[in-house]
Amino acid sequence: MAVLNGKNILLGVTGGIAAYKTAFLVRLLVKKGANVKVVMTNSAKEFVTPLTLATLSKNEVFSSFTDEKDENSFKEPQWNNHVELALWADFFLIAPATANTLSKMANGACDNLLLACYLSAKCPVYYAPAMDLDMYQHPSTEETFKKLESFGNIQIPAAFGELASGLVGQGRMAEPEEIVSFLENDLLKKLPLRGKQILITAGPTYEAIDPVRFIGNHSSGKMGYAIAEAAASLGAEVVLISGPSALRLENDFVKLIRVTSAEEMYNAAHEYFDTCDVAILSAAVADYRPSEVASEKIKKKTDDLILQLTKTKDILASLGEIKKSQFLVGFALETENEEENAKLKLKKKNLDLIVLNSLRDKGAGFQADTNKITLITKDNKVLPFPVKPKKEVAKDILEYIIEQTNA
Ligand code: CTP
Repeated sequence: MAVLNGKNILLGVTGGIAAYKTAFLVRLLVKKGANVKVVMTNSAKEFVTPLTLATLSKNEVFSSFTDEKDENSFKEPQWNNHVELALWADFFLIAPATANTLSKMANGACDNLLLACYLSAKCPVYYAPAMDLDMYQHPSTEETFKKLESFGNIQIPAAFGELASGLVGQGRMAEPEEIVSFLENDLLKKLPLRGKQILITAGPTYEAIDPVRFIGNHSSGKMGYAIAEAAASLGAEVVLISGPSALRLENDFVKLIRVTSAEEMYNAAHEYFDTCDVAILSAAVADYRPSEVASEKIKKKTDDLILQLTKTKDILASLGEIKKSQFLVGFALETENEEENAKLKLKKKNLDLIVLNSLRDKGAGFQADTNKITLITKDNKVLPFPVKPKKEVAKDILEYIIEQTNA
C-alpha cells in the first residue's frame, strides 16, 4: 500500500511507557516513504530520547517553544513555530496519547508545544491512547473520548492485554504495525478515486517503415505517466497503456501495458475500456503509418524515396462512439485557433472534457517537465491554468474529473 508514501506526518509523543515503541513506529512510517517530524512533551523524554527519534526520523525533534540556548554559541534560541509545523503536516498522529494530554486536548489547554500544534492543526488528527485500565475506564476518560470524537479526531483503539501496572485489560497502546495499518486503511477509505478504474494512454507510437526504422514523435509520456501516478495515489485502479517511453513508474499500483504502434494501442485501449469509469487519452498517437512495412531493411538505392502513408484508427474517437457511462477525456495539441479547434475535437469525438495544450505557450509541450493547460468542458466552459509542473497539472485534471464524476 503506497498510501503513506510522501505523506508529511507530525508525530506527537507524550509521556507514557509506550513511548519507547515510537522508535519502531517512526522507522515503520519512514520505511513506508512518509516524512516524519516529531514533537514530544517533556515527560515523553523520560521514556525515549529525542536523539533516537531524530536519528530515525532524519529530522529535528521539537519539544519546546524555543530551541535550547547553546552555551558555546552567540546564537539566540530559535522560535519553534507550532503553526508552521501543524500546517506542514498532512496529518497529526499522537502516539502514545496519555490521559493527561487527551484531557488537555479535549479542553483546549495549551501548556506545551505539542498541544499548541494540536490547537493549530487543520489536518486530520489520529491518536492512540495508552493508559492503565482504571484510567481508561474512568468516566472522565470516556467523556474525553466523546469530546475528541466530536472534534473529528480519530481514535486508534487501545489493545487488550497486560498493562505496565500488572492489570489486565484495555489500555495498551496499539502496536506500531497496527497503528500503521489503521492509518493506511483509514486513508485508503477516504481516497476520492477509491473503487474507480481509470484507463490512461501515454507516450508516442512508433509506426514501422522497415525492421529498423519507424515514424515517431517527440512525446516523452511525462504527462500521461504523471496522471497515472496521481490517479493511483488517489486510490484508483489504473491501467496505463504506454507507447515507447524511457520513463519508469514510481507507483507499483499502476498496471503498465507497453505497446509500440497505434494499432497495438487501439487494441489494448478497447480491451480495457468496457470496465473503466474514466478514460484519459494523453498519448501522441501517430495519425499515419506506412501503408507497407518492408520486411527487409530498405537499401539506399535511389535519390528519392516515396513512402505511402495510411491513416491510423483514431482511438479516442472510436471510444467516444461506444462509450456508455465512461467519462472520456482527450488531449488537443494545437498551434493555432487553439480553443476553437479543441472545442471541435471535443464535440466530434464525443468527449466529456478536453485538455488543451498550445505549442505557442512557454512551458508547455512534449519533453518539458512543466505544462500549461486549458480545460474545456462539455458545456463549453473554458478553464485556463498557469504553467505548473506536470505532476501538479495531473492533479488539476483529476480534481476536475473527481468533481464532475461525483456530481
Ligand atoms: N488520438 C487517438 N488516436 C489517434 C489520434 C489521436 O486516440 N489516432 C487522441 C490523442 O490521444 C488525443 C486526441 O486524440 O487525446 C487529440 O489528438 P490530436 O493529435 O491533437 O488530434 P487529431 O484528432 O489527431 O487531429 P489533428 O492532428 O488534425 O489536430
